[in-house]
Amino acid sequence: MKVQLLVSEWCTPCRDAEEVWRRIAQRKHIAFEVLDVGQPEGREIVARLGVRTVPSTVIDDTLKHLGVPTPQEADTLTAGAPDRQAKSSEHYVGLTLETTSAWAIVAAAFYLVLAGAALVLGDGIAGDAPWRAPAVHIYGLGFLVFFVFGLGEHLLPRFTGAPIRGGGVAWLQQALAHGGTILLSLGFLLAARPLAITGGVLAWSAFALFACRLAPVLRARNVDAQL
Ligand code: HEM
Repeated sequence: MKVQLLVSEWCTPCRDAEEVWRRIAQRKHIAFEVLDVGQPEGREIVARLGVRTVPSTVIDDTLKHLGVPTPQEADTLTAGAPDRQAKSSEHYVGLTLETTSAWAIVAAAFYLVLAGAALVLGDGIAGDAPWRAPAVHIYGLGFLVFFVFGLGEHLLPRFTGAPIRGGGVAWLQQALAHGGTILLSLGFLLAARPLAITGGVLAWSAFALFACRLAPVLRARNVDAQL
């Protein structure tokens, strides 16, 4: 069963509708997409089905519900879909920024400030050891990597319409990246090789975890075809 929620960026109730459907998608075996009516995919459905309001829910290419459905209404509409075997940690991404994505972006901003401070106060980029390598890695690993983590897990699943694993594994990925950034930078600063190597291993593990989470998202050509 394919459930498509039509939304627009400026519509506040759309976020409530997305939340209702995301909870259903965790329990029921449905393919769930959030489509912006301002984007070509959303516009095409709006034109074809004559939808005039958001949020609206389209199930298997038929307009089924206008407005925010109650959990009971959403349950009834998807009564025909089989239950998932176990509650999945995968979730579909729509308008709402996940807590993990928000924290990754907050961390990126924090590291950017820190890298800037190292640059100015520690004579980072322009200077020599010991400040240069820590400043570069607080920027590269701290700011860039966390920014990519935050935006990547929010945007890529929206492009492919496939769910991404979240929860514990997403938090572990961030914890490893924090450990990696801090230990690698301290290792460079203090010229402590074991510290830097440990940081490098932690950072690498975070990259590997992110790749494992993204692989199924990028591989999914069309989830609908399987359901
Ligand atoms: C697993 C993660 C990483 C490890 C283990 C690592 C390790 C290293 C090492 C050992 C050096 C040589 C440092 C020195 O000469 O004192 C280096 C340099 C450098 N790294 Fe990384 N790095 C990592 C991630 C990154 C990332 C994500 C970026 C940027 C996006 C980055 C940017 C750089 C740059 C620009 C240099 C040259 C610094 C200089 O010219 O002094 N690194 N890295």
